[in-house]
Amino acid sequence: VPTQVRAICCIGAGYVGGPTCSVIALKCPHIKVTIVDVNPVRIAAWNSDVLPVFEPGLDEVVHECRGRNLFFSTDIDAAIQEADLIFVSVNTPTKTSGVGKGFAADLHYVEASTRRIASVATSSKIIVEKSTVPCRTAASMRTILESNSSYTADGTLISFQILSNPEFLAEGTAIRDLLAPDRVLIGSLDTSQGKAAAKALSEVYQNWVNPSKIYETGLWSSELSKLAANALLAQRISSINSLSAICEATGADVDEVAHACGLDARIGPKFLKASVGFGGSCFQKDILNLVYLSESLGLSEVADYWHQVIKMNEYSKERFARKVVSTLFNTITMKKIAVLGFAFKKDTGDTRESAAITLCKYFRQERALISIYDPKVTTNQIMLDLTEPGVVDDAEQVKKQVTIAKSMKEACVDAEAVIICTEWDEFRDASPQDWAEIYASMKKPAFAFDGRGVVDAKILRAVGFKVHTVGKGPLIVDPIWA
Ligand code: UDX
Ligand code: UDX
Ligand code: ADP
Repeated sequence: VPTQVRAICCIGAGYVGGPTCSVIALKCPHIKVTIVDVNPVRIAAWNSDVLPVFEPGLDEVVHECRGRNLFFSTDIDAAIQEADLIFVSVNTPTKTSGVGKGFAADLHYVEASTRRIASVATSSKIIVEKSTVPCRTAASMRTILESNSSYTADGTLISFQILSNPEFLAEGTAIRDLLAPDRVLIGSLDTSQGKAAAKALSEVYQNWVNPSKIYETGLWSSELSKLAANALLAQRISSINSLSAICEATGADVDEVAHACGLDARIGPKFLKASVGFGGSCFQKDILNLVYLSESLGLSEVADYWHQVIKMNEYSKERFARKVVSTLFNTITMKKIAVLGFAFKKDTGDTRESAAITLCKYFRQERALISIYDPKVTTNQIMLDLTEPGVVDDAEQVKKQVTIAKSMKEACVDAEAVIICTEWDEFRDASPQDWAEIYASMKKPAFAFDGRGVVDAKILRAVGFKVHTVGKGPLIVDPIWA
């Protein structure tokens, strides 16, 4: 296998592959990086002025490298043939049918890419799993590659080394995370060939990452670490969200509780922000994956333990939605509800598993009229996310019930309640004057529900709103506890 990397191919031009390999191209001008995808629309977008992924700083990176040593293409075979090292960065969604439905990862795309590599490669290569995959996927990939290997023109057997190199970037901060990662994890087989391949990949990262941040492990540890890290992060959010329910019932303030706990160096302050619930393409998918793995290994207590993190997240979303309805005198039928923020977190246009989707679907069932504003999510995406697949005429029904606004002020006109679902800075930074205007344009009594704890409830109350913030005590504050 190659000991030096001169050309890289990345299969899958999505949220992970695109930014990751763009940064590699930026930091390694001597390496030719080609990002390929089966989706020609996506590749065309990567080659245009409007990239298919919104990430702060990404445009600048792509503009600097594209056409220099960074290429986006649909010619997958050519890119595979040219590469010494191939990142497999395709999607691995939760299975929606068959064995493991609702839990296991669908490895169809990983397998298709692996078979493609085996069938077209004309030289030995290092294959790197970038997508989050269940443990031991590398073993399956190896079997496929070895069973389908051919010979080079001069008669030597083409060989493949498989590495696991999970990506830990978070959306919205992808470029920052890639430029200064907490760690780079590289898993390999404990053989001289495996170690040599890991060294070659490590040298790519060492163009900008300090070697002390590069951690080499076995393949299975690396695969499991990715699932474990996401499970532990999500568990912190479900833990603080469970405490937010106690805070609301008692008058404690969840931010104070989180701060007090976070001061303990063993706990630490990060990732303890109470919210309406976590979203994103990773947390739920990876935990379900871990639950499925545990069940398959006969570890049902372990499966139950991690499943509870997801159940608590579902509960958080539902508890918040119920709070809205009960506060609005137990009915929101035909009432206008303004939803601010639709992305699963700020600084991304991604809506996968966004809490806003669950809330809006709940409000739809209660037959509310929903007006949505998000600075980055497209109208098409919102309509798609809110339409129930397979339900006749649902797209038409969504159009009747849901409107998309161009600003937060527009969304709130004539609304009975404003609901903050995403922590966009512009909601946090709105002035008392802005909120006063919004209040004046709404029906009275006007309610505000802050699902992210981003706005100062005092400002909202001062202009007249009745305010509910996640984890911040009852709506009608008992003077004794106030
Ligand atoms: C996550 C991991 O952070 C990243 O390391 C991994 O590679 C992919 O999955 P991502 O899903 O992009 O990244 O975003 P993240 O910042 O982790 O947020 C996930 C969700 O949790 C968001 O909906 C966010 O709003 C929510 N969240 C996060 C909270 O509700 N409270 C917090 O304290 C932190
Ligand atoms: C704990 C809290 O740490 C302390 O802040 C609080 O005031 C009282 O409760 P203590 O029970 O004295 O303190 O000891 P601690 O060091 O927390 O260990 C508790 C148990 O957890 C021990 O049995 C320890 O062996 C175990 N433990 C701790 C682990 O198994 N793994 C760890 O990583 C840490
Ligand atoms: P992630 O968030 O993991 O990056 P995305 O869905 O954003 O996931 O991106 C995965 C990309 O992989 C998609 O653009 C999809 O078209 C692409 N893809 C899936 N299967 C293949 C394949 N066999 N060959 C090339 N590209 C693929």
